[in-house]
Amino acid sequence: MAEKDNSSLKSPAILLFEQRKILIREANAGDVDYATTITDEMEASAKARGTGIAKRSPDYVAQKMREGKAVIATCEDGAWVGFCYIEAWGHGKFVANSGLIVSPAFRKSGVATQIKRRVFNLSRIKFPDSKIFGLTTGLAVMKMNSELGYTPVTYSELTDDEEFWSGCRSCVNYEILMSKDRKNCLCTAMLYDPLKETKQTGLTLNKPTQAEPSKWVFERLFQNLRERISR
Ligand SMILES: CC(C)(COP(=O)(O)OP(=O)(O)OC[C@H]1O[C@@H](n2cnc3c(N)ncnc32)[C@H](O)[C@@H]1OP(=O)(O)O)[C@@H](O)C(=O)NCCC(=O)NCCS
Repeated sequence: MAEKDNSSLKSPAILLFEQRKILIREANAGDVDYATTITDEMEASAKARGTGIAKRSPDYVAQKMREGKAVIATCEDGAWVGFCYIEAWGHGKFVANSGLIVSPAFRKSGVATQIKRRVFNLSRIKFPDSKIFGLTTGLAVMKMNSELGYTPVTYSELTDDEEFWSGCRSCVNYEILMSKDRKNCLCTAMLYDPLKETKQTGLTLNKPTQAEPSKWVFERLFQNLRERISR
C-alpha cells in the first residue's frame, strides 16, 4: 500500500510545562541521538509497572526517526520529553502506533495525549486506508484511544502478521498469549477502522487537524460518495 506525503505535519504542536516550552513534532534523522534514552526509559517503565513490552532496540527506534514514522516531544533546550512510532503490518492493511512513552518528569500534563493525536494523524496521512490498532494494559492509553475513535475488539480482528506477534516474545506474558492460542492475553486490543467511521458518520471525524491537506479531504469526500452510491 502506497505511503502518502506528510509534509503538512512539519510544524510542531506546543505545550507549556512549568514555563518550559515542549515541542511535539514529527521525528527525523537529527533525533537519532535520543534513541538510547528512549529505549532505556521504555524498559525502565515496563519494569516499574511489572508489565510486558515488545522490546525495541535503539537502532530500530532510530530507523523510525529517519523514515519519518515517529513523533517526538522535546523541550526547547533539547531535553527529551516523549515519543511514539508507527509500524505497518500485513502489507499496510494494519498500522500500530507503538511504544508511547513520556519521560516521568513530564507525565500527567497532557504530553502523551498530544503525541498520540499527532502520531494518529500522521498514520492517517501516511496510511489512509489502514486499520489502526493497539494492544495495551494501561488505562491512560485506553482513554486516549477511545477519544480518537478506537473501540475494543477481540484479537481475531487484529493483523495475523507473524512478525507483529513475534514482537510479543519479549513480553513477560508471552506464555499466556501462546497458551491461549494467540486469541487472548492480558492486553486489551483496540481498533480504529477508517471505513466503519465513514459509514457511521457519513464523514470521517479523525481527519488530520494540523494544516490539513485539501487533497486528503477530497479523497475522503469521494470515498463517502462512492460508498453512498454503492449502497
Ligand atoms: C502512559 C503514559 C504514556 C501517559 O503519559 P502522560 O503524558 O502522563 O498522559 P496524559 O497526561 O496525556 O494523560 C492522558 C490521560 O490518561 C490519564 N492518565 C495518565 N497517566 C495515567 C495513569 N498512570 N493511570 C491512569 N490514568 C492515567 C490522564 O489522567 C489523562 O486522562 P484524562 O484525559 O481523562 O484527563 C506515561 O505514563 C508513560 O510513559 N508510562 C510508561 C509507558 C507506558 O505505559 N506506555 C503505554 C504503553 S501501551
